[in-house]
Amino acid sequence: MTTTYLQTARVTLRPFGADDADLLIELDSDPEVMRYLSGGEATPPEVVRDLVLPSLLAAYERWGGSFGLFAAYETATGTFVGWFCLRPERDGPLDEVELGYRLRRAAWGSGYATEVASALLEKAFDELDVRVVWGATMALNRGSQRVMEKVGMTVTEELPTPDDMLAVEGAELGGYKYEITREQWELRRAAFAR
Ligand SMILES: CC(C)(COP(=O)(O)OP(=O)(O)OC[C@H]1O[C@@H](n2cnc3c(N)ncnc32)[C@H](O)[C@@H]1OP(=O)(O)O)[C@@H](O)C(=O)NCCC(=O)NCCS
Repeated sequence: MTTTYLQTARVTLRPFGADDADLLIELDSDPEVMRYLSGGEATPPEVVRDLVLPSLLAAYERWGGSFGLFAAYETATGTFVGWFCLRPERDGPLDEVELGYRLRRAAWGSGYATEVASALLEKAFDELDVRVVWGATMALNRGSQRVMEKVGMTVTEELPTPDDMLAVEGAELGGYKYEITREQWELRRAAFAR
């Protein structure tokens, strides 16, 4: 699959291919990128090759390419900048989807996460018949929270830290679930259009 999933002003999202394990391995090898995900531990390369990549390729099939986790490239240079996801829970309803993102450190601070997250909300609500988009983040991960706040999502729940993340810095502070409904998004769009 080499089709473009999403195009924003500066970023292109495309499905990962079977040969893309090295992109994910390199991304997950930066302790700063993994700080609030694994406590800084890299994802072992064999886990990426044998589990992560096959599972995300299977997800394109499961959802007919409408949802999943997509590779992000800087359009002007073709540089891989990380990934974004828009996906339902594995066996969950198709109108309730998770927004997620993981960018290479070199790409931070350029507004890419906000730019793409905003376009993903538009795609979810306008094209994909989604009713609600949610995202979850640790309490210490202010960068991730700001992205969701900037695209109009709000905290709906305080979350306990999952058992497999108890060793991560700030685990004792828990995390937050953010959400935006189609109705909230449409009101926001109308307000911006005025
Ligand atoms: C979180 C992440 C996606 C942000 O990406 P980004 O492209 O740098 O974000 P943007 O440039 O769109 O910035 C969005 C806002 O967050 C703020 N922000 C970004 N990183 C921040 C940080 N570490 N601390 C505080 N604010 C931060 C920006 O200043 C901006 O807010 P502002 O316009 O009010 O100044 C990126 O840091 C990342 O990939 N981190 C590692 C993986 C991760 O934690 N993913 C989320 C898991 S829940």
